[in-house]
Amino acid sequence: MHADDVVDCHVLVIGSGGAGVRAAIEAAPYGDTVLVTKTIAGKGGCTPMAEGGYNAVLRKEDSCEIHYEDTLKGGAYLNDPELVRILVQESPLRMDDLIRWGAVFDFTDKNEVAQRPFGGQRFPRTCYAGDRTGHEMMMTLVEQLDSSGVTKLQEVTVIDLLKDGNRVAGAIALDENGSIVILTADSTILATGGGSRVYDISTNSSSGTGDGFAMGYRAGAELIDMEMVQFHPTGAVYPYDARGRLITEAVRGEGGILKNRLGERFMKKYDPDRMELSTRDVVARAIATEIANCRGTERGGVWLDVTHLPKEQIETRLPVMLEQFLKFGVDIRTEPMEVAPTAHHIMGGLKITPECRTTLSGLFACGESAGGVQGANRLGGNALADTQVFGKRAGEFAAKAEKRAKKIDPAQIARQEERLDRFLSGTDNPAAVRTGLQQAMWKGAGIFRDEAGLMSTLAVINRLMQAPLRAASQKNLADCCIVENMCLTASLICRSALIRPESRGAHMRVDIPQEWDAAHSPYGHTYISKNREGIERRRVAA
Ligand code: FUM
Repeated sequence: MHADDVVDCHVLVIGSGGAGVRAAIEAAPYGDTVLVTKTIAGKGGCTPMAEGGYNAVLRKEDSCEIHYEDTLKGGAYLNDPELVRILVQESPLRMDDLIRWGAVFDFTDKNEVAQRPFGGQRFPRTCYAGDRTGHEMMMTLVEQLDSSGVTKLQEVTVIDLLKDGNRVAGAIALDENGSIVILTADSTILATGGGSRVYDISTNSSSGTGDGFAMGYRAGAELIDMEMVQFHPTGAVYPYDARGRLITEAVRGEGGILKNRLGERFMKKYDPDRMELSTRDVVARAIATEIANCRGTERGGVWLDVTHLPKEQIETRLPVMLEQFLKFGVDIRTEPMEVAPTAHHIMGGLKITPECRTTLSGLFACGESAGGVQGANRLGGNALADTQVFGKRAGEFAAKAEKRAKKIDPAQIARQEERLDRFLSGTDNPAAVRTGLQQAMWKGAGIFRDEAGLMSTLAVINRLMQAPLRAASQKNLADCCIVENMCLTASLICRSALIRPESRGAHMRVDIPQEWDAAHSPYGHTYISKNREGIERRRVAA
């Protein structure tokens, strides 16, 4: 196997979700920009599947200060405050960009962008396009991308980063036939999204496999807070093939209520003030507790009910939910939906500066690939804003880097060729390894965690990582690389979860008694890289 194609550019963007496309648009005027994606730009990734909305301060009754405080409180004070400040200040500007480029958000009768309440926020600041907000954004962004001069390499899977000395200088990829493509770049941006597909039940598209976390780690970058996995409270329970599919928080934002098998509106036990619009970590644990205590439905869910809302509100504000459930044989205007938690978002990721620089020179990260913005629990609606704010920043700062000659040591390519050759003579089906991994993660690294469960999950992962994966043909090589990335991402999650000796946000350690609340925690970020792993200690005011 030999590297046939070499593509040189100024900025290389890996990933074609909201953050990647936004980064590429921003970088394009500065020099040759290449966007490489294992899917099709606008079709893969999680952004087009994001339903509920985009948080932005748009009204004078709201303020960036309140959005900042809500985000920190929702994030259990683990967020990087500087990144949060940037998020809240710049999300309205990036919203303006989207509208200027033609995105059709819902508007009020007063011709203002409509906003709805989402969990953990003191103001209804979630802007939306019905319940297909991400889709609307992505269509707009791709149209912009297509007129920006960016070269798109689609269905091309990046399998690792390439370095010139200590500096990241591009990536090695496989095209749809499994042939090697070498991409060299002055700056490389990881915008590969999250990795919640390492769990058996997940809202993520099949591309949420943690590629950026794994490639960044292997290249030597530091990642933070990888234990922080958000379980969205409401995923579909039935039919089986749709398990985990996102039932948007907008359903609760529009007034939907949660009930257990006994008809009790159980959120009053868990958060009587905020009820269904509590933060996601609280609502997901509440639902999981109801189910574990035999108050769930026969199929292992709880009821999410909008039948008390006017039919017209359901039809106009939740049309995708209505249509989707009609396909499942449920008319949500007259019957409740059956829901249960589902792995949704990784709050941790590559450590970044406000300019989206990682700890490796030449490498930038944005969107779900990056950590620090969302802390220990993300507020619904902050992810789409994050993609635009930090996507733009990554594109801009990456593009401002100097142009330089790149020297890639051929030994790096040779190592990858050996890796690929091993797959061609391997024995284990990558699909079976993936299923084993997903089931182990769901069982031992889910909503409630303890040391024994995490250790045994890690043991399974370590065994799966040794499996000699088999590619049936050259076209299947990328699948093996992706399964390796999933195993490594899962390992980073479990190792980080073992490092954090407290419950915080989405990370609930049931085996550790705790005296402090999140605001007074003695711990900061967990960090993990090839060179070191541990947890920051912080001084806490009495
Ligand atoms: O529930 C939702 O619509 C998801 C939104 C988000 O994760 O931000």
